[in-house]
Amino acid sequence: MATAPNLVVAGEPGVARRLRKTGRFPAVFDAASAAELRALSKSGQVGSPAAFMFAPGFVEDVPGAGVAVLANGLAGSGFTVLVHGFFTERGDVFDPKVRVTGRQLRLSELLATFGIPESAPPPAPQATPEPRHPTPPRPETVPTSNAWPSRPTTPADRRTAAGTTAPVARRGRVVAVASAKGGVGKTSTTVSLSVHAAKHLRTVGRAGTVALVDTNFQQADVARYLNLESPTILDVLQESGALSAQSVRNHLAHLPEIGLYALLGPPDPINADPALINSALYRRILAVLRAAFDLVFIDTPVAELYHTTFTDLILPEADAILVPVEPNRVTLEAARSWLRAITLPQHSRGGGIDPEKLSLILNRARADVDCGPEDVMDLLPGWRFVGVIPDDREWMQAVNNRRLGDLRSSPDLEATLYDILRVVTADPVFETATPSMNGRHTRWRQLLGLGSK
Ligand SMILES: Nc1ncnc2c1ncn2[C@@H]1O[C@H](COP(=O)(O)OP(=O)(O)OP(=O)(O)O)[C@@H](O)[C@H]1O
Ligand SMILES: [Mg+2]
Repeated sequence: MATAPNLVVAGEPGVARRLRKTGRFPAVFDAASAAELRALSKSGQVGSPAAFMFAPGFVEDVPGAGVAVLANGLAGSGFTVLVHGFFTERGDVFDPKVRVTGRQLRLSELLATFGIPESAPPPAPQATPEPRHPTPPRPETVPTSNAWPSRPTTPADRRTAAGTTAPVARRGRVVAVASAKGGVGKTSTTVSLSVHAAKHLRTVGRAGTVALVDTNFQQADVARYLNLESPTILDVLQESGALSAQSVRNHLAHLPEIGLYALLGPPDPINADPALINSALYRRILAVLRAAFDLVFIDTPVAELYHTTFTDLILPEADAILVPVEPNRVTLEAARSWLRAITLPQHSRGGGIDPEKLSLILNRARADVDCGPEDVMDLLPGWRFVGVIPDDREWMQAVNNRRLGDLRSSPDLEATLYDILRVVTADPVFETATPSMNGRHTRWRQLLGLGSK
């Protein structure tokens, strides 16, 4: 009879913990990233026989050591390797010895993969180190007997043992934050939403599924907000040949503490040659990112009607466009005519946007400037209004002190950000995000320091 292998679960600490608890494997290790996998293999802790499982949360933080390279190498060395179907969907190619499954595997199925009947006695346990990562809470709908994280591919696969449906995102949704005005908080909003989305998705076992793309290549502020320098789109330009999921991934900056990936713009506008860095390049990159990430947020330059980033990239590519406005009548009136222009039937300068794709937020809202959410709705009637972000001193302090990653928003602001995420991402996973106890209007009043009446 086959011996149960020592198991290495790469990219899903919750699954590692559950499998460890079954007692069916001598040892179960977890490795969040390629760097951790490398350290684990160097440590000599993983005895033979060993098997490896790669889950979508695996962080490919070592250039040239993506999942395809690692899985093919391990399978070629005689190890049993299982990879989640997510990787083939994004374009990875595996050796036939690598087993690919997008389905939630039951423990019995997993044991069968290793030739172990479910009734076989459990092996004597090997001392297994505690996981190095705190285990995120799992949605209750994922049954504990499942040995694979929830990344279902068909409606049937979404059925859990309890017969309920786990929240599932549409792959590759592109959310752009755009405005005809400069300085209204496009980058701040894009960064804030991306960080919140990435953190929340990580807690539900979908780590590493959010990307942020800075298309403002003349003033690439995303890197400045996130306090990152490289790699940037200039590195993508060095790639010869077709862009692949791996080549693009290798040039994404990564914030492991948040689980967010970012394609940074050129650090200096002098390098932003529009002959090279342009909408055509971003569209090729987006095609790859759509296949590899659940959510792709795009920060944009000022969306003047003639700006090609808007006409050739955002208009055709964005599934949702979030428009921040400031509490200022002039900005609101400008936004009104811009919204009208971009939703006109297709014309030479673009147009043709489905108004359903558009949502407005009031950013930098204050109680003392005679322009609150009601005024926005009055001045921009008929447009979907999804939230109020206050003029936030903590945000400014976090930016200035380079600590956006640890910024803790108030419960009311968090609830508002999740409201916005729910609308623009259409991902039911945000339904389960921390709800505020207040109704939406009460919450907005509280955000503006107006009490709860
Ligand atoms: N809610 C907020 N509270 C406090 N400060 C904010 C808020 N939103 C944005 N800011 C600040 O306002 C300024 C402009 O914001 P941001 O850079 O996000 O605007 P933008 O629309 O991306 O500008 P640009 O058109 O130059 O790209 C920054 O100093 C930013 O930190
Ligand atoms: Mg900006």
